[in-house]
Amino acid sequence: MTTTPVIVGSERSEVGLPDGMALLRQGAGALDAVEAALRRCEDNEADHYVGTGGLPNARGEVELDASVMLGSSRAFGAVGGVRGFPNPISIARAVLERLPQHCLLVGEGAELFAEECGFERADLLTAEAKRLYVEALDAADESVEGEDTRATPGDRRYRETTRALMRRFAPHDGPWGTINVVALDETGELCVGVSTSGYPWKYPGRVGDSAVPGAGNYCDVRYGGAACTGRGEMAMRVTGARRIVDLLAEGADPAQACREMLADARSLPDPFAAELRALALTPDGRHGGASGQLGSVYAVMTAAGDGVEILPRQVA
Ligand code: GLY
Repeated sequence: MTTTPVIVGSERSEVGLPDGMALLRQGAGALDAVEAALRRCEDNEADHYVGTGGLPNARGEVELDASVMLGSSRAFGAVGGVRGFPNPISIARAVLERLPQHCLLVGEGAELFAEECGFERADLLTAEAKRLYVEALDAADESVEGEDTRATPGDRRYRETTRALMRRFAPHDGPWGTINVVALDETGELCVGVSTSGYPWKYPGRVGDSAVPGAGNYCDVRYGGAACTGRGEMAMRVTGARRIVDLLAEGADPAQACREMLADARSLPDPFAAELRALALTPDGRHGGASGQLGSVYAVMTAAGDGVEILPRQVA
């Protein structure tokens, strides 16, 4: 018996979902579909939260995290803090497929592995992303009276500046955040992929939930796949994606499972506790999403449908 393919994604995944669905319609696997969809998003320079054009860390360097997980084997591949490679989702896939007994590579090791795999290097900091960074840095400079806020990494002033920059990263108008894609192929395989440049102006070396199994990404073909967007530390603290899949296993529907996980995150004493969103897809093609904030959506394409449908996430 064949399954009807479905692909879902977070805000701005609609740029890549048609590529993923085109492959699913040809009978390709969920992993190929997720990778193709996310590569398209990573190459979209207008998107400042993923791949080329992503906003940089506090030192002005673009550092990317990505992961991919397969529902049948629960095999997981991820990279964190990768610089100079435009498609971290493909490096994450290579970790999954080519490095037995490895799930996650970070920093220099991930870059060495990418080079050995033959991935091309590129400059990821676009002129527009650099302009936004310089603007934010200048604003933070003004907020600290009379002192040089661009001191060397690691000292107190540097940390204070980083915190000031982080506070300035409030969700702006329009869709923001990490991109998640979850696909179900005609064989019934499920795959979840996540890709991000992380918080703008994050502390160098900071790796978020997107690279961490169970936090930003989890997939079990028996129950479903789930992924998170937003404040990654919240997703890590509640192991958000794994929690959603556990709730699916207990019989919750996808939106309800996302809402319950977000309610748990929101109960934590943290000013950013509501800045988390989630989505889920079950092996029988049901999907849903939720957000701690109003106005959030997710994108869906089915093999039978015409195009990308944008659906509201429930508010948790
Ligand atoms: N959710 C992505 C991040 O926090 O980096």
